[in-house]
Amino acid sequence: TTAATALALTVTAGTTAMAACDEGEIVIKFSHVTNTDKHPKGIAASLLEQRVNDEMNGKACMEVFPNSTLYNDNKVLEAMLQGDVQLAAPSLSKFEKFTKQFRIFDLPFMFKDVNAVDAFQASDAGQGLLDSMQRRGLQGLAYWHNGMKQMSANVPLESPSDANGLKFRVQSSDVLVAQMEAIGGSPQKMAFSEVYGALQQGVVDGQENTWSNIYGKKFFEVQDGVTETNHGIIDYLVVTNVDWLESLDADVRDQFLTILGEVTTTRNAESTAVNNAAKQSIIDAGGTIRSLNAEQRQEWVDTMRPVWDKFSKDVGQENIDAAQAINA
Ligand code: LMR
Repeated sequence: TTAATALALTVTAGTTAMAACDEGEIVIKFSHVTNTDKHPKGIAASLLEQRVNDEMNGKACMEVFPNSTLYNDNKVLEAMLQGDVQLAAPSLSKFEKFTKQFRIFDLPFMFKDVNAVDAFQASDAGQGLLDSMQRRGLQGLAYWHNGMKQMSANVPLESPSDANGLKFRVQSSDVLVAQMEAIGGSPQKMAFSEVYGALQQGVVDGQENTWSNIYGKKFFEVQDGVTETNHGIIDYLVVTNVDWLESLDADVRDQFLTILGEVTTTRNAESTAVNNAAKQSIIDAGGTIRSLNAEQRQEWVDTMRPVWDKFSKDVGQENIDAAQAINA
């Protein structure tokens, strides 16, 4: 299969009309769904592209396709297994077809902030999850941070009961379905590229996302306001095809993974600042942001927390305990 993969790579390189790629270079197509600037993933992907193309010139060539221009997250992993794309960074919520272990990242109020997420991912348990889909042909390479999720709707959300009867867009995760049901909402799984239109047309009433996504895709413009709940996280798995990675010459693979590791460290350190800037940009653009006092926030915790019980078997009680120990 190594020879077949190498042949496929040559064919891809030869037939893809990408000005940036020279003949003989390994083509690394990276498909993602967010905007490129003022966004933790968009910035990291662009930096990775720039460094690979500068430092691996003649050996490899990366082309990033942002904003769902190549694939949305429901298609990209299949496309990767077919060899049509070599790199993606879907949110950890979007791997349900491949593993249930990532569900820990979707459980509401599991991690108190991005530093806690980072510490869990750096632990043996977190690093082990990178390899959890190898048998399905996918290799996790790194975690990239986005940030904490906020709630928005076409009515003010202060108490969780304000969400009663509202339709919410969720990513393709059953944990997030259960979370929205816990607050009395009707969840609807939907691709990221469709959310703005669905909010604008009233197909759904609300959604949850990070400041950078709410700003980057202008969701705040078609919502009553955004409530600062910090109730969950969106983080990413930079993922590739096991066979493709193995097909690379060791020196090429090492150089690529070294660059990826450096970009990961550099950009993860900035993810919270990028989200805070996006939050400020929403305020500057006239968007409404509501904060919760401690008592109000506790209501959201009490309403959403029971969701843990439903998924503790999938994620392992020991992992929940490890995550909670990090929060403490
Ligand atoms: C979403 O679908 O809301 C997010 O996963 C999009 C993203 O990549 O941040």
